[in-house]
Amino acid sequence: MRSVIVGCGSYLPARVLTNDDLAKMVDTSDEWITQRTGIRSRHIAAEGEKTSDLALAAAKAALAHGNVPVDDLDLIVLATATPDQTFPATAAKVQAALGMTRGAAFDVQAVCSGFIYALSVADNFIRAGQARTVLVIGAETFSRILDWNDRGTCVLFGDGAGAVVLRAQEGEGTARDRGILSTHLHSDGRHHDLLYVDGGPSSTQTVGHVRMAGQEVFKHAVANLAEVVGEALDANGLAPEDLDWLVPHQANRRIIENTARKLKMDANQVVLTVDHHGNTSAASIPLALCEAVTDGRIKQGELVLLEAMGGGFTWGAALVRF
Ligand code: ACO
Repeated sequence: MRSVIVGCGSYLPARVLTNDDLAKMVDTSDEWITQRTGIRSRHIAAEGEKTSDLALAAAKAALAHGNVPVDDLDLIVLATATPDQTFPATAAKVQAALGMTRGAAFDVQAVCSGFIYALSVADNFIRAGQARTVLVIGAETFSRILDWNDRGTCVLFGDGAGAVVLRAQEGEGTARDRGILSTHLHSDGRHHDLLYVDGGPSSTQTVGHVRMAGQEVFKHAVANLAEVVGEALDANGLAPEDLDWLVPHQANRRIIENTARKLKMDANQVVLTVDHHGNTSAASIPLALCEAVTDGRIKQGELVLLEAMGGGFTWGAALVRF
């Protein structure tokens, strides 16, 4: 059994915050942010607009795009570091809002690698025969955990949601057949203090704010991503030249360009949304993927490499034949 991506959808809150807007809030400039990160603007959720609202909109769009009825869903896996509440899972709220009353729904927490983790979990449910149709969502309201006085972090992130629908297809398939070829997950908890939130129910009983040692994170991201994309290609007997598209987690333009260079991929083979989305954590890959599928860049039969790195540290990759 293998999983095929049959639909994708996304949602971005209406409000756009530009670098010039940020320069009125903290000591920064459009030039600094653009040069160091490639980010020009990001979307910010409206007051009262929750992660589950963003996730639901993306989920509905993905189901409509794939022409998949809600009743077919066996499972929802939702990646987020910014759930509506400590519990219930945001996935269960989306399940209820969709009118899905059977199957299972749960959240996955791997911060910026969350979508790769959720996709891997969903793919393994399908491979094991435990589910046939799965909704995988990445959704975040990172603006709620930013310290808006810390110019080192508040300029980097945005809010949004993206989703894909997976369907089971009989047979193992080959690298030439449609479907998820393989997924690769890693974590190294020794580096938990380089990127973290300084709050939580069991420690401070507060929500807390994002804290980051930017340069250290940058170095680890470059090294870990190079390693995991190599692992994904080797596992499938593929070479960088076999890839049609790179759809990376959108943290920083320089990190993305570094990975593309190592893969000898042209800029026009890389889906880049960090300029207008910022870093939307677990939502960034499905947002980028959906943009490139719906505007016709990614076509059926093409080979796509997804990769991400985030707090934990966590990192991972997935190879998908569309
Ligand atoms: N505007 C203006 N100046 C700033 C800003 C800002 N927004 N933020 C920091 N600075 C200043 C610093 O205070 C410092 O000033 P100083 O030299 O007087 O002390 C100077 O700029 C340089 O700061 P650095 O942190 O060394 O800047 P760097 O070149 O490393 O860029 C950045 C910072 C963009 C955060 C970079 O380290 C980075 O992108 N790291 C990766 C982190 C990341 O992407 N995290 C996302 C989550 S993890 C992931 O998704 C991979």
